[in-house]
Amino acid sequence: MRSHRLGVIPGDGIGPEVTEAALSILDAAQGRFGFTTERTEVPLGADTYLSTGELLTADAVTQLRGQDAILFGAIGSPKVTPGVLERGIILALRAELRQAINLRPVRLYPGVPTPIAGLTPQRCDLVVVRENSEGSYVGGGSTVHRGTPAAVATQGSVNTWYAVHRAVDFAFRLAAQRRGRVTLCHKTNVLVDAGALWLAVVDEVAARFPDVEHDYVHVDAMCMHLPVAPERFDVVVTDNLFGDIITDLGAVLQGGLGVAASGNLNIEGSAPSMFEPVHGSAPDIQGQGLANPAGAALSLALCLASLGEGQAAAAVESATAEVLSGLPALSGAGMGASTAELGERIAALVTEAGDGDGAAGGLAGPSLMTQLAAVQAGLSG
Ligand code: NAD
Ligand code: IPM
Ligand code: MN
Repeated sequence: MRSHRLGVIPGDGIGPEVTEAALSILDAAQGRFGFTTERTEVPLGADTYLSTGELLTADAVTQLRGQDAILFGAIGSPKVTPGVLERGIILALRAELRQAINLRPVRLYPGVPTPIAGLTPQRCDLVVVRENSEGSYVGGGSTVHRGTPAAVATQGSVNTWYAVHRAVDFAFRLAAQRRGRVTLCHKTNVLVDAGALWLAVVDEVAARFPDVEHDYVHVDAMCMHLPVAPERFDVVVTDNLFGDIITDLGAVLQGGLGVAASGNLNIEGSAPSMFEPVHGSAPDIQGQGLANPAGAALSLALCLASLGEGQAAAAVESATAEVLSGLPALSGAGMGASTAELGERIAALVTEAGDGDGAAGGLAGPSLMTQLAAVQAGLSG
């Protein structure tokens, strides 16, 4: 029987709740599609940090490196100074495991309530390719005279041709499998040095993809276009920070932060990829069963696709879409069911799933999972 080694990092806040729901869906997928997973839970996060002072230990990295893929819940706690856990665990992991691309689909599933009036699933199906290793996330910074009126803080940004090229090349490969359109999102009218580098890389890569159209949108204008005309976009490639920001907005189009999924992809095969919902640890609702597990479930679907379990991935995606479409609201008490109950509903549909690719949830067209498999085959071929 096929078996996959899976690292599991539940983390903080609602991270453990949505991860537990995702794992119950995984149990169902394994039973239905005939594979097993050997799961290794790695307890990273606020509790470990507060009791041991450790963030990401060398042992944890070694353990995680030995997995085929990693499922990640969320990290961040009001008990710890902002940035300590986020940088020391999430960003450190993305860097250690060379997860160059943060892939963030923005897809509205049929029947799912969205706060954007008149938005339809046909008009909302795009993918953000977020550069995942640099920009202002690794630019370094300094502070002098901290806490006084003379304080000076600097915060830089790193943009290498290598990493930008890697992200842009991936975006064009993905667009070639989709509707053939790449949009660069940046702020070239102010960040002129970084912007010029990104533009030059896009020009170079575009020359190799004559069948893929490309255009450019400033990040501020993106915040207007995304809710009003998401159909304008197929693959959006962008810098690390802009990608972080516009995908919370993208999550809203899909129905809310509880729905959005992501994959931190190691595209060279040198270490496992890591899959996580876009949302954070949501301390405001933790421990109450109020978190929507859909983002974690759809991240599991991406994870299964990366493990070659395409049928299971499609079944998890369509079961999640179906359960979402029946909900009166997508977060909080208005959902009418707890995190665990929603996980059980999705798991039950996965158990009943047919062999057809995603058809059960009324999902049309080739799935992102299939497109990614084709991109990956091209990269390793
Ligand atoms: P957040 O995403 O945790 O929450 C923002 C809002 O969305 C909150 O009102 C929350 O209740 C709601 N929400 C989030 N996930 C939900 C879900 N699954 N279902 C229903 N509602 C949901 O963002 P924040 O409040 O800005 O950050 C909280 C902490 O999480 C911080 O420490 C932050 O650094 C961290 N964070 C971590 C990650 C990550 O682990 N990848 C991502 C974002 C933020
Ligand atoms: C996300 C989060 C992280 C990011 C933080 C918590 C480091 O916001 O995954 O979107 O900025 O990438
Ligand atoms: Mn974010």
